[in-house]
Order: sequence, then structure tokens, then C-alpha cells
Amino acid sequence: MTIKTLTLAAVTALGLGATGAMAAGDAGHIEDVDFSFEGPFGSFDTMQLQRGLQVYTEVCAGCHGLQYVPLRTLADEGGPHLPEDQVRAYAEQNFEVFDAELDDFRPARPTDHFPANTAAGAPDLSMMAKARAGFHGPYGSGLNQLFKGMGGAEYISAILTGYTGEEKEEAGTIFYENTAFPGGWISMAPPLDDDLVEYADGHSTDLHSLSEDVSAFLMWAAEPKMMARKQAGLTGVLFLVLLSALLYLTNKRIWAPVKKKAKQAAK
Ligand code: HEC
Repeated sequence: MTIKTLTLAAVTALGLGATGAMAAGDAGHIEDVDFSFEGPFGSFDTMQLQRGLQVYTEVCAGCHGLQYVPLRTLADEGGPHLPEDQVRAYAEQNFEVFDAELDDFRPARPTDHFPANTAAGAPDLSMMAKARAGFHGPYGSGLNQLFKGMGGAEYISAILTGYTGEEKEEAGTIFYENTAFPGGWISMAPPLDDDLVEYADGHSTDLHSLSEDVSAFLMWAAEPKMMARKQAGLTGVLFLVLLSALLYLTNKRIWAPVKKKAKQAAK
């Protein structure tokens, strides 16, 4: 191959790559949200997680499961942090699980997981907030997540608020136009609306608040140890900074006599 054909090939490859990236670029429009858990010092907002749990239970659980999330983790500090007895009551009142020993259904206990639910082809939401973190800014480079902290929680709230009101029917399925969903049409009917859920803490219940609350809750479900991870990371960085300083000083001290001699020799 001559230089010219090589260059041509490279340019074509780049061109193809760019169009591929463009195609991925029509993934939908995601708005940034300032979630409390973003940034190196961010942490989950306990009250928000509790409200999000309520939205999930009253609305989303009708179709979606959370089968990888143990109910007992609702008591976790850094998570929804519900008192143990409330977790027990919540499990009993809201879910039934099949017990192989009883060969029958019984009320759920904290030791059970949230049930699976695949009604109407709705995917399990346990890992959704992490699974959908992939849009990550310009052409999947991760820049949006790095600089704006945008991830799966933004994606989910963008889906919940991204309905345009248009719908169409294809092969017997109704699709709803959604500006955040890749491809623009989703088969999930708009699940939330202003004031659909009533909060006990008097927090706003407009569509955006409900969406952000349930998205934060799903972020916690997908990454319950996020706080511990950030803390470990921070401790690690502090430790390295301290170690660097000590090594610098030690190094200076060890070489000080040698340097002194060298200086004297030069005189
Ligand atoms: C009436 C049933 C129903 C309810 C209620 C419902 N969903 Fe869905 N959801 C679906 C279906 C069906 C899909 C699959 C849509 C598709 O792939 O076109 C889906 C998909 C999703 C997705 C995945 C989108 C993707 O990228 O694949 C998310 C996130 C989601 N739902 C969140 C929620 C949340 C949060 C709630 C509660 C506020 C909720 N859903 C309530 C039926 C439902």
C-alpha cells in the first residue's frame, strides 16, 4: 500500500467511525439533574430514598420487579434507613412470595428479596440505573459522567418526564413517543403524572419531583454501597497524599549530606 492509499483508508475508517458515533448519538435527550449523591462528597438523601421507595411501591411495582434487592437493605444506614419494624411491616403489607416449604404464598419478610415481576414485558429495575449509565455523554466517552455526574439516574428521570403525548400502534402494541428513549418510541405508558402519589412529608409531588425521587431510589437499589465506595476512595486519596509528602521529606533528608558535599566540592 502506498502512503496515499493508507491515508485514504484511515480517513474512510475515521469517517465510518464518526457516522457510527452519530447514529449512537440519537440515543435521546437527557437532562442533567443535581442529585445529592453526585460528586466525591455526595451522599444519598434518606428522605428522598424513602419517597422514591413509595413511588416504586405504589406505581412501578405493578409492572417492574426488583428481584436482586433484599428487603432488609431498606434498613441500611446510607440507604432508606427505615427502622427494622417498619421494614417488616412494609414487606408484609406489600408483597407475597412463594414459599417452597409451605408450597404456598406467604407475606414477604425482610429476609426475602423484592419480588420479580415481568408483567407486560417490563424489565427488572434492580440494576437499571447502572445498566443505563452507558449514554455517558458525547458518543459514550464518559465525559458527561465525569464532569456533570450524569448517569443512570438522570436517564431514568429523563424517561419518566420525556413523554410528548404522541402515541402510535404497531402490530398490536401501542408505543409512546419519548424524547429520552433510544429510538424515540417506548412501549411503557407514561407511568407518572403530577400528584399521582401523596407524600407524608409534604414534599412536592409534581411530575419532576416524583421522577427524581424514584430515580434516586433506583440508583441506590443498583449501587447500595456507593457511599462506602466513595469514602474508601477518599481515604485512599488522603493516604496517598500523606504518603507522598512523607516520602518527599524522607528523600530530601537522605540526600541532604550528599548534596552538601557536592556543593562544597564545587566551591
Ligand atoms: C403498566 C406497566 C408499567 C409501569 C406501571 C411502569 N413501567 Fe416501566 N416499563 C414497562 C415496560 C413494558 C417497559 C419496556 C419498554 C420498552 O422497552 O419499550 C418498561 C421499561 C422501563 C425502563 C427501561 C427503559 C429502557 O431503557 O429500556 C425503565 C427505566 C422504567 N420502565 C422505569 C419505570 C419506573 C421508574 C416506573 C414507576 C414510576 C415504571 N417504569 C412503571 C412497563 C411499566
